[in-house]
Amino acid sequence: MAKQLYIETVGCQMNMLDSELVVASLRKAGYELTDSAKNADTILFNTCSVRQHAEDKIYSALGRLKHAKTHNPGKIIGVLGCMAQKDQKLIFERAPYVDLIVGPGQLHQIPELLEKIAAGDGQQLEVSLDRKAGSRHEVEQSFESYDPLRDPSMRPTPFQAFARIMIGCDKFCTYCIVPSVRGPEQSRPASQILAEARQLAGEGCREITLLGQTVNSYRHEADGRMWRLSDLLVALEDVSGIDRVKFVTNYPKDMTDDLLQAVRDLPKVSTYLHVPAQSGSNRMLKMMKRGYTVEEYREMMSRIRATVPEATVTSDFIVGFCGETDEDFAETVELVRESRFKNSFIFKYSERPGTKSADLFPDDVPEDVKKRRNNQLLAIQNAISEEDNQPFIGRQVEVLVEGPSKNAIKHGEDERPVVQLVGRTMCDRIVVFDGNRRQIGQLLDVAVYDANAFTLFGSVVTSHVGPEVYSL
Ligand code: 5AD
Ligand code: SF4
Repeated sequence: MAKQLYIETVGCQMNMLDSELVVASLRKAGYELTDSAKNADTILFNTCSVRQHAEDKIYSALGRLKHAKTHNPGKIIGVLGCMAQKDQKLIFERAPYVDLIVGPGQLHQIPELLEKIAAGDGQQLEVSLDRKAGSRHEVEQSFESYDPLRDPSMRPTPFQAFARIMIGCDKFCTYCIVPSVRGPEQSRPASQILAEARQLAGEGCREITLLGQTVNSYRHEADGRMWRLSDLLVALEDVSGIDRVKFVTNYPKDMTDDLLQAVRDLPKVSTYLHVPAQSGSNRMLKMMKRGYTVEEYREMMSRIRATVPEATVTSDFIVGFCGETDEDFAETVELVRESRFKNSFIFKYSERPGTKSADLFPDDVPEDVKKRRNNQLLAIQNAISEEDNQPFIGRQVEVLVEGPSKNAIKHGEDERPVVQLVGRTMCDRIVVFDGNRRQIGQLLDVAVYDANAFTLFGSVVTSHVGPEVYSL
């Protein structure tokens, strides 16, 4: 019988892509996916270190597996990704029954490492060099971008895919663990990315999301030519079969005019820009070492609005960063009020050992103040989101249909031929409407009749029903 694999993934889209690729490689090695950790032969956690909470959850999940091997001594438990790189052998110390620790730069070794464990070679640990443990080149070499050939059956939907265009980060914002766990910034050659896009298109993929920690810092020199993100977008426009191209996450300082003009001029490029501001206070931005002032962020917002008026912008904010006063927070509120983001992801500052801010500044904003600021900012943002969704009522939007809505799944109705569906507009707005399962994977016109802060509700205008392109 095929070996049963259970995998849990937390964190960002980069982790989702990594898990997808790990699963694809293990399928090739004869594994089958199961959704039961209990019955699995191999349990993998692909982990995130950005906030303490994400790590605590993994350590408690590991804690619950303490006796998992009693009935199945051959069961293998592995920790992958950012926590593996950050905590390394500490994970073995805290959970001695873990068999495998693999950093984000060694994921390609997993099938081989699992074989070793099964053969009785004991615990296996493979991680990259710490950033200060060698020359830049040596550290770079120790983080290998993991982009093997895909298996279309492994994507969340066959018509959508992530494509990594760079790995790592060199920005070293003081609060952030990413540069140490994901290593130096390295852009992949454009020729590889384009080959991957063509392959994905050939497999029926219509939407590609380009991934990078600071995706718009992409730069790669090849054949005497410098490729920027805007150049990649121009080249992707010519890949037939691809209808939409998105890219996340952007770094404000690298939001250059050539990129905005590409977003304006290229019909396939999504008009959705995720550009985290983190704070509206110059004092905080400086302590965070974000590399821009709030005035510069505002200037960038006006360039976006002037160049691509229909663009939607989203942001991330950290509340309760070291020493944040009510005045600092009020400046963040002001930035959120005037920027009219489509939505904002708001996080309470979480001190990460090993970062500059953990070394330099006390984490001195009390938890209840962090919580209050979080709720307050979220309420302001949600009111804006709701207001800005209202003008869509009565309008038609083009939607890429992603699948049955959460609600349909929750009520066990997702297998019905006529079902509530969910899709997204070119500017990343979520649209829910009744439709036919055969419409999954298609671009449809939907007339919007209602809206709240998070969702547009509509009905299908074009009732074209094509061949079935998607089956669960
Ligand atoms: N505490 C809280 N939030 C953080 N982020 C990154 N590091 C931390 C931290 N130490 C947030 C930032 C980033 C998002 C992915 O996570 O807002 O944009
Ligand atoms: Fe972290 Fe800053 Fe790099 Fe984003 S740009 S991954 S917040 S260090």
